[in-house]
Amino acid sequence: MPAPSAAVVRSVTSTAPVYDLRESDADGVRELFRAYGHRDYQLHLLGITKDAMVGFLWDALAEAPEYSFVLKERGRITGLFSLSYQRWLSKRLGTRTWSVRHLVLSPDVSPSSVQRLLSVGLDSISCLADFVYGRAASSDIPVIVGLQGVGFETVGGEICGVLAPGGAPTEQPQPDGLRFVKARTEKLDEVARIARQSHDINHFAYDPRFPAERVAALYEGVVRFDAADQNGSMMVAEKDGAVVGFHTYRRNRRLECYVAPGLYSLNYIGVDPEARLRGLGEMLTWKVLEELAQSGARGITVRTMLSNYRALATLRKVGARIASANLVFHRWLPPADGPRGARWVDELDSGSCYSASSLRTLWRSR
Ligand SMILES: CC(C)(COP(=O)(O)OP(=O)(O)OC[C@H]1O[C@@H](n2cnc3c(N)ncnc32)[C@H](O)[C@@H]1OP(=O)(O)O)[C@@H](O)C(=O)NCCC(=O)NCCS
Repeated sequence: MPAPSAAVVRSVTSTAPVYDLRESDADGVRELFRAYGHRDYQLHLLGITKDAMVGFLWDALAEAPEYSFVLKERGRITGLFSLSYQRWLSKRLGTRTWSVRHLVLSPDVSPSSVQRLLSVGLDSISCLADFVYGRAASSDIPVIVGLQGVGFETVGGEICGVLAPGGAPTEQPQPDGLRFVKARTEKLDEVARIARQSHDINHFAYDPRFPAERVAALYEGVVRFDAADQNGSMMVAEKDGAVVGFHTYRRNRRLECYVAPGLYSLNYIGVDPEARLRGLGEMLTWKVLEELAQSGARGITVRTMLSNYRALATLRKVGARIASANLVFHRWLPPADGPRGARWVDELDSGSCYSASSLRTLWRSR
């Protein structure tokens, strides 16, 4: 893979105004969110109205507007680019990690203005970031072209699926000695061992700049977090008392406030490599869907990589409907002067310095 390019973008010809998001942009940004059609079918399957989604997205953005940039052309907002520092991931990856929180463009935006919007945003974090990742709906060509234009590279694709709560339609024969239990921290070390062996298909693993050990530790951390977090849950499969698989899932309480209770996502499934291809992945997922039906779930989402054929096969067996697809992008920033990597991440993690201004102050104080 080539080294990160020295400049964020080579040349930007547009002079369209790009500025920090302001409260007074509410109507224009809401309009952008409303016109964004690439997830409409997913919203339809989940029973979420466009108004509810727009309200949720704007309120979340207005609460933490740092590193959000607005593009204005012909007196109208035609682009929003928002970046957010990923503290938890940075700590685990040992890399100052940011994500593209939003990149929303109006259909008539000019490509050179998109380059300008993206380059202003990336320049603003260039002293604070080693790595940025983002997702684009695979049908959102202006966004894909824009990200590629400022040096983002594709590291794979994902599908976003929607599942219905409820158990298997026909009784599944269950092998002797096999049981499914809803667990929290019990047997977590056994679960973590399987998590480490399971997550070889993900966008971090597909980027050769991340050491395999870091990625394995990251997925172990994700599963431990889901199991212990108040909005997370875990179903464990045991055979003769030994853990042979797990499935974590989460409740999306934040979005529920705008829609209605009962929104969940399936997070991570892992089956012991020795126990695969015997229907365990399917049984585990049915158990989770059954459990969620009892908890009053209305809508359940799932995301997995397009190249994860075994996960796709498992999702097909439990009736998942594909609602949209994403491309996943990575962008590495060129090394800057000053402290980098793990030491800097530790420093960020030890203080309460996550807002835009405190990050900038910390950087300048070096
Ligand atoms: C995905 C996973 C949980 C499935 O567990 P499992 O117990 O093997 O699942 P099942 O036996 O119920 O089903 C596996 C299906 O994948 C299919 N499959 C396996 N490898 C495949 C491949 N390379 N191409 C296409 N299908 C494949 C099997 O044929 C089977 O489908 P079938 O019953 O219709 O024949 C397991 O492979 C795993 O732990 N993978 C690593 C972790 C992971 O990728 N998790 C998903 C991301 S969150």
